[in-house]
Amino acid sequence: MRIGIGNDHVAIELKSIIKEHLEAQGHEVVDYGTDSAERFDYPISGYKVARAVAAGEVERGVLICGTGVGISLAANKVHGIRACVCSEPYSAKLSREHNNTNIIAFGARVVGQELAKMIVDAWLGAEFEGGRHQRRIDMLAEIETTQALAAAEWQAMDATE
Ligand code: RB5
Repeated sequence: MRIGIGNDHVAIELKSIIKEHLEAQGHEVVDYGTDSAERFDYPISGYKVARAVAAGEVERGVLICGTGVGISLAANKVHGIRACVCSEPYSAKLSREHNNTNIIAFGARVVGQELAKMIVDAWLGAEFEGGRHQRRIDMLAEIETTQALAAAEWQAMDATE
């Protein structure tokens, strides 16, 4: 798989470890930076990777900053992006199966190297299940494009699912 990766100055070391880990699995990793220890604003790399995913230049994206929060917020501003911050593999797996996430983020100040590898592996190993989850993804897209959500859809939601 072709995967985009991006980070800020806090996450240079973890970025290179994850990049190496993914390449060892046969993935092609496109690095959108940064590799500098100078202060680097996370919206830049978050946006670059998100734009590449949305444009189909890469299939998925991995983003790392101090907490994963800022860089995922930046990515989620790009249309078509569903980025989540995960600090453990269970949410990472479910974010694919239920939410069809196309970007995962985590924090270099939050997770250790081995846990970060487990998170990424769980995420890449899971597939979107579709079905009832697709309706919710469609609703997310509706909010994104129209800044509204049709009331009929609210009614159709089965709260038990
Ligand atoms: C940088 O100090 C820090 O704010 C950044 O890495 C990230 O955690 C933001 O969400």
